[in-house]
Amino acid sequence: MVWVGSERMATKAKKKTKIEIEKNEDPQEDTMLMMALDDDAPEVKIDDLPGVGPATAEKLREAGFDDLLSLAVMSPADLAEQAEIGESVAGKIIAAAKKMANIGGFVSGGALLERRKEVQKLSAKVQSIDDLLGGGFETQALVEVYGAFGSGKTQIGHQLAVNCTLPVSEGGFDGDVFYIDTEDTFRPERITQMARGQGLDPDQVLARIHVARAYNSAHQMLLVDEIKRVGKGLNVKMIIVDSLTSHFRAEFIGRGMLANRQQKLNKHLKELKQLADINNALVLVTNQVHSKPDAMWGDPTKPVGGHVLAHASTFRLYLRKAKGGRRIARLVDSPNLPDGECVYQVTEEGLKD
Ligand code: GTP
Ligand code: MG
Repeated sequence: MVWVGSERMATKAKKKTKIEIEKNEDPQEDTMLMMALDDDAPEVKIDDLPGVGPATAEKLREAGFDDLLSLAVMSPADLAEQAEIGESVAGKIIAAAKKMANIGGFVSGGALLERRKEVQKLSAKVQSIDDLLGGGFETQALVEVYGAFGSGKTQIGHQLAVNCTLPVSEGGFDGDVFYIDTEDTFRPERITQMARGQGLDPDQVLARIHVARAYNSAHQMLLVDEIKRVGKGLNVKMIIVDSLTSHFRAEFIGRGMLANRQQKLNKHLKELKQLADINNALVLVTNQVHSKPDAMWGDPTKPVGGHVLAHASTFRLYLRKAKGGRRIARLVDSPNLPDGECVYQVTEEGLKD
């Protein structure tokens, strides 16, 4: 696996990783760090459920169930079918998972407010977009940008990748970007143009944007682990997945595969969100709308990914082309901002008012 950055950065990252490995002798440490975010109680694994032996655990994992919560919310019939186990066994597993799952506790509003204080906002360097988002793209959040082909999703990804390297005083994060490219549409030349548009040195910007091609959905999911590894010692402030859904959509075809696809996607999103929380970073994912207006299901203005993605995203931006090369971005379902629209343009130097 190679994260393409400049030679210099690649060596630097390698060095840092090596130091980390020498330093970090306790393999449990990563897991512990993550658990500390949620809860102090040790995590119960699916293997720990009464009546689940290694063979059943393997079946469950293969079907995409790797934590108790994913089992606890299933119905016995669905679990039996998906994991290819008996229905009465499925019923017992679900009952046990419900008892042992860490449903999550309540924390005080004050504690949440403390965490919210750390939230930073990345400027789009386009006034109308920043205004729409109440100041910019927030960290600790997962932002979904969806729209038809050519609507400008990849352009937003490129622009925000550049802006992420800007100093904090100029609306950036002074940070490193990890860009998971599933459609082979990342263009360093475009980064160069946009960096110049911001008065930045293109080479320095490119050195901080680490790009990997994902060849299928499983690879795409593995790359998230890779970010955890390679990102140590870097200031990981933004993760872009362009496109989040294309591989999933191409690989899991038909209604019979839907549950499986949604489970995998859900897991992927949870891992991305975890990166956002741990690093106080922004995760930006792109997504297409359903392409066949005549299809029996699939509204042509609705994003792919269904409820799983709708639920996981903190902010959703719907992009459309307008007359005269203009673009319209609509904010949909924000937790704390009014829905609204803004207009901007895509130019050679990048996005502009
Ligand atoms: P898919 O990935 O195919 O779903 O599309 P997308 O939503 O990612 O579209 P993308 O961001 O690739 O937008 C492509 C559009 O951006 C082009 O049709 C152009 O209109 C515009 N664009 C890209 N580069 C430039 C540029 O250098 N100058 C100008 N003026 N426009 C550009
Ligand atoms: Mg694109």
